[in-house]
Amino acid sequence: MSNASAPRPGHQNPSILITGGAGFIGVNSARYFAEQGWDIAILDNLSRRGTEDNLNWLREQIDLRFERADIRDPAAVDRILADHQPDLVLHLAAQAAVTTSVTDPREDFEINALGTFNLLEAVRRFSPDSFIITASTNKGVRQDGREGRGRAQRPL
Ligand SMILES: NC(=O)c1ccc[n+]([C@@H]2O[C@H](COP(=O)([O-])OP(=O)(O)OC[C@H]3O[C@@H](n4cnc5c(N)ncnc54)[C@H](O)[C@@H]3O)[C@@H](O)[C@H]2O)c1
Repeated sequence: MSNASAPRPGHQNPSILITGGAGFIGVNSARYFAEQGWDIAILDNLSRRGTEDNLNWLREQIDLRFERADIRDPAAVDRILADHQPDLVLHLAAQAAVTTSVTDPREDFEINALGTFNLLEAVRRFSPDSFIITASTNKGVRQDGREGRGRAQRPL
């Protein structure tokens, strides 16, 4: 098994592509990984309010490559994975608002489900050695099926 934190031959540092990297978890993860010596690339469509400010804040602190792209666009995702071939993909691009998932479930599905599918396909086809970590939800359910923060017994 390969090691995600070991740089590939010809690369000095391990590399990470963070989808949704201009979001709340994304910018903090990017800074953390940069401090550990990783090369950082971010894919984000900057749809979430405040993400341009987040990105400017991050750019003041670390070097990064930024790809403005939509995870729903398979051609763009394919191109980015083929270009970067990162050691690790941290998948955070998401429609995370429960309210929006109720008022616009199609958009929620297209971003969260099809967007994730696009990413998995792009990795399978163009960067098969990449590790993938995803944070798809902040909810857990208990064994009795009820939602329960802090007492999750199994993932959704
Ligand atoms: N914040 C938390 O407490 C928490 C806890 C656990 C898990 N999570 C999960 O982690 C993930 C990220 O959470 P967050 O709090 O950083 O959310 P966030 O909304 O701050 O970040 C999401 C990012 O995705 C980008 N994005 C949205 N749609 C996109 C698209 N179609 N293409 C490309 N980029 C797109 C947004 O512009 C934003 O920068 C979500 O799946 C969330 O459910 C969050």
